[in-house]
Amino acid sequence: MNPINIGLLGLGTVGGGVANVIGSNAAEIGRRLGREVRISAVCDLDEAKAAALCPDAVFVKDPFALAAREDVDVVVELFGGTGIAKDAVLAAIKAGKHVVTANKKLLAEYGNEVFSLAAENNVMVNFEAAVAGGIPIIKALREGLAANNIKSIAGIINGTSNFILSEMREKGSAFADVLKEAQALGYAEADPTFDIEGHDAGHKITIMSALAFGTPLNFQACYLEGISKLDSRDIKYAEELGYRIKLLGITRKTEKGIELRVHPTLIPESRLLANVNGVMNAVRVNADMVGETLYYGAGAGANPTASAVVADIIDIARLFDADREHRVPYLAFQPANIQTQPVLPMDEITSSYYLRVQADDKAGVLGDIATLLAAQGVSIEALIQKGVIDKTTAEIVILTHSTVEKNIKAAIGAIENLACVEKPVTMIRMESLHG
Ligand code: HSE
Repeated sequence: MNPINIGLLGLGTVGGGVANVIGSNAAEIGRRLGREVRISAVCDLDEAKAAALCPDAVFVKDPFALAAREDVDVVVELFGGTGIAKDAVLAAIKAGKHVVTANKKLLAEYGNEVFSLAAENNVMVNFEAAVAGGIPIIKALREGLAANNIKSIAGIINGTSNFILSEMREKGSAFADVLKEAQALGYAEADPTFDIEGHDAGHKITIMSALAFGTPLNFQACYLEGISKLDSRDIKYAEELGYRIKLLGITRKTEKGIELRVHPTLIPESRLLANVNGVMNAVRVNADMVGETLYYGAGAGANPTASAVVADIIDIARLFDADREHRVPYLAFQPANIQTQPVLPMDEITSSYYLRVQADDKAGVLGDIATLLAAQGVSIEALIQKGVIDKTTAEIVILTHSTVEKNIKAAIGAIENLACVEKPVTMIRMESLHG
């Protein structure tokens, strides 16, 4: 069979990894696919690098010219972002090229447009590397779990944040100090906002939510809260109570609508997810027939991410001549069956909560706080006075049972209005991750 010809847009970390994987594993890939995968054209700012990494490929300066080339079957977009990357992907689709992309921002924010144009032009768009790097979670959601009603997904899907939280827990260090360490190690960008404020995880959970529930992509509705305001005291107290704090992307189907959120979350230390440390990623899927499944691995890095990109190329090559009816639908469900479903505002989500309150150390304070929680129907699971900060101020940690978020917010508002309480009360959501 003829080789499958790749036009590669971008030779950064992942692009370099793709060149390496295709070169190093050519024999094994050929043995699986029955044909060669070949990089025929490459576009990058650095021509010398392109010549070094892809010596057999034509260097093409203009991404739009590359997308239109006769000798390109699949355009692999690894520029990232939503500027030139978006235009190049749309141009490639219009030129009738199949596309592989690792670009979660592009898909979470413009995926509905991309997939609609791809359907019109009868091309495949694969994006395994957009979520959790080398972990084949898109394959699992689109194919492996296709017999199930998926109920919920919870994932550690930002390695930078997980590294920072792991270090804060292990060393008791402050967020700002660990961030500097992560930047020195090359895990965190010079501008780390995208990772630490939950945007990256938000893009990834938005994509998984659409695949799980058969909805359009709806990043605008995703709640984002990062880790930059976490106090290492809360990590320590959580640990003393048998919990770890992780930045989770969570999506859940409820009778009222879909929950779609990213935030620091206490999870029991006995859960597998609680023990995913450093830059590693893991995604837990709960589905009605199979129950709980967990996917763990490297969420970033040249070769792990390239592993996912090249698997997508192989999938496209296998289905190259198949009718479109035989392809896996872009968003796991047939396009005609994609249904908009409401995403719940955060006030309507259901969770349990960790609260830390600083209050005067005097008789009746705990009783007042408990009364205000009870007034909102919030039931207390545990209430511990952690100690006295100075001679007159006590620190109180409360774990609640499950409640609707507007109730806990109302209770916090009332607690903060007590003369004996210092503002603000710290609130962190908790998930039991069972069932
Ligand atoms: N910046 C991401 C992370 C990897 O820290 O996990 C790419 O998605």
